[in-house]
Amino acid sequence: LTQLTLALLKPDLTANSTKVNKVFSHIQQNDFNIVAHKTLLWSKSDAEAFYGEHRGKFFFERLCGYMTSGHFHALILEKPDAILGWRALIGPTHPPRARINAPETLRSLYGMTDTRNSFHGSDAVDTATKEIGFFFPEFDIEKWEKDR
Ligand code: CMP
Repeated sequence: LTQLTLALLKPDLTANSTKVNKVFSHIQQNDFNIVAHKTLLWSKSDAEAFYGEHRGKFFFERLCGYMTSGHFHALILEKPDAILGWRALIGPTHPPRARINAPETLRSLYGMTDTRNSFHGSDAVDTATKEIGFFFPEFDIEKWEKDR
């Protein structure tokens, strides 16, 4: 059954248009349909709101600093099993580990460090719904579900 997920191309990647173009090719080659797309620039409070579950962790300030360092892309991707499929395509959280264990993944190819890992993907159906609502409050997910 076709499914939606929320994907981010984070600021370090977005700053490099050659890499962004390559990533959009990967997305198309892997048969994801881009249902919605916007570029954003976050304030500190935007980042703290989205990453609230990580407040208090040692990397929280670093993460919020990174995510407010420049524009980034938010995408709604559609495909059968989109959530798992997108997470498989981006690979493990930590790019140096991805380069050893999952060399064909996007984080292996384009990620930098544990924090600056260039991509995000929702991890479950309920978080995908929540994250789509966060970035695309105008998107009618109930209508999409009815029409799919
Ligand atoms: P993401 O999975 O999009 O959401 C949480 C983010 O926190 C993660 O990507 C990384 O950018 C960052 N992160 C997760 N774990 C660590 C870590 N151990 N050290 C630094 N940053 C991390």
